[in-house]
Amino acid sequence: MTVLSTLFDTGSEQFRLDRRAMLDALGPLESLADRVLEAGGGKSVDRHRARGKLLARERVDLLLDEDAPFLELSCYAGAHEPAEQPGGRLITGIGPVRGVECVIIASQSTVKGGSLNPDAVAKKLRALEIAEHNRLPVITLVESGGADLPRQAETFIPGGRIFRKLTRLAAAGIPTISLVFGSSTAGGAYLPGMSQYTVLVKQAASVYLGGPPLVKMAINEEIDDESLGGAEMHARVSGLADYLAEDERDALRLGRQIVSDLRWTKAGPGPSLPADPPVHDPGELLACAAADAKRSVDVREILARVLDGSRFDEFKPLYGTQLVTGWGSIAGYPIGILANNGILFSDEANKGAHFIQLANDRSIPLVFVQNITGFMVGSAAERGGIIKDGAKLINAVSNSTVPHLTLMIGASYGAGNYAMSGRAYEPRFVFTWPNHRIAVMGGPQLGGVMSIIRKAAADRAGVEYSDVEDAQVRGEIEDMIDSQSGAIYATGRGWDDGVIDPRDTRAVLGLALSATHSAPVTGTSRFATFRL
Ligand code: COA
Repeated sequence: MTVLSTLFDTGSEQFRLDRRAMLDALGPLESLADRVLEAGGGKSVDRHRARGKLLARERVDLLLDEDAPFLELSCYAGAHEPAEQPGGRLITGIGPVRGVECVIIASQSTVKGGSLNPDAVAKKLRALEIAEHNRLPVITLVESGGADLPRQAETFIPGGRIFRKLTRLAAAGIPTISLVFGSSTAGGAYLPGMSQYTVLVKQAASVYLGGPPLVKMAINEEIDDESLGGAEMHARVSGLADYLAEDERDALRLGRQIVSDLRWTKAGPGPSLPADPPVHDPGELLACAAADAKRSVDVREILARVLDGSRFDEFKPLYGTQLVTGWGSIAGYPIGILANNGILFSDEANKGAHFIQLANDRSIPLVFVQNITGFMVGSAAERGGIIKDGAKLINAVSNSTVPHLTLMIGASYGAGNYAMSGRAYEPRFVFTWPNHRIAVMGGPQLGGVMSIIRKAAADRAGVEYSDVEDAQVRGEIEDMIDSQSGAIYATGRGWDDGVIDPRDTRAVLGLALSATHSAPVTGTSRFATFRL
């Protein structure tokens, strides 16, 4: 295979500026990460510890195999809501338990009692979706106040899908395990209720549809917490608990034992190629996104720092050159790559559709590297059939059945986001770099379009629309689009599975690829009619 070379001048001013811009973009993420790790802060954490309990993150660590990597997902869920602690009141991710990659979902009871606000519901549903698509067993570590009551109007209806998804996972043959450490009230009681295996911690788990105050109010029965829904009662009387744990560590040990007894094996192929590191320094990925959005770095420079041995066999290198396609591998897993080197014209769209068909023919996963401002517009492009060619690419992306991973390294605008397997096209995972921007179009473009529309409307109505007013409205729109297009806003809203440090790209994609191979990897030849 061809080993990619590099044209980077690491001593140049350009390199220094691009690297500096990426480090600046990483700064706010580091502050967010600190806030996530606070897990609700001093008083709440102290109270939790005083009760002899482990923090959610400690539980996850003890559940995982020692020193195993944990691919944490949606770390900064809710980061767009200034009043919220970032993290979505949950920890979710993929890690090995007794050698089996599992989706782990742990409530953070130190953050608002672990109650589920809209970000938490979305984060939990996303983790369950990942389990479903990648055939990964699910372990839920339960200790939660259930629905965020003041925000019940936003959580009640979508939250119901959590329980449906849990039971459908089991019906699809994907194991579901609940370890209950504390409160699991009302709807939350269905977390163990809908799981195939349950472990309840003695003198700590309380699982009931209505707590003692509600029972008193509803049927005038006086009963204490433990007798109503304690672990002993559920293990000996109701039968909801399959295993009674002496304490939290015992529950985690039992969880590991249950996974081991599953005798779970991956259904996809294992790595089949050498997994040697790239020959070019991954640290230089910090300078692989241009500080100035109008300039871009050749995407091959990124591939050269991510792929095994920097090996990349390019497909159709002389045709549709703004879309780079070819074969390589990460962590020994063969992949096909589609990566932007500019906007998409008809040739690029046709080349992409062709390449996706080839990957499906060979059942090889696809990695999309997005830096795309959209498809070409204008009369020449329209006469050349940009709509039907773009539709071919979107058809291929939509109907392809091999796993897709999407990495967003710069712009993700308009139909370019769709054609390069954006979130709506159900890639197995979407990761972004901190410089990334995502919107239907850029702020100045959107402001300009709205300005033309408003001026035309004012002309039709015969009213005056001054330049001053236009500039003010335009400025407001641009500011709004700007604040809603950044990487932190996007990840807060759950539009991706995480913003990553560019230097971690290879490790993150490698873990994600490994997870996707828990399910069979099978391509298709059934696409919609291609508009030729
Ligand atoms: N919705 C919104 N906030 C909730 C909440 C809920 N369901 N449950 C707890 N909280 C908040 C509390 O208001 C408190 O907020 P604060 O830190 O701003 O003061 C924080 O979480 C901790 O709650 P607290 O009751 O002090 O902690 P605790 O550890 O003693 O008890 C629970 C935790 C979950 C057992 C208890 O809060 C509880 O019973 N909550 C209601 C459970 C319920 O009936 N849910 C119904 C869901 S349908």
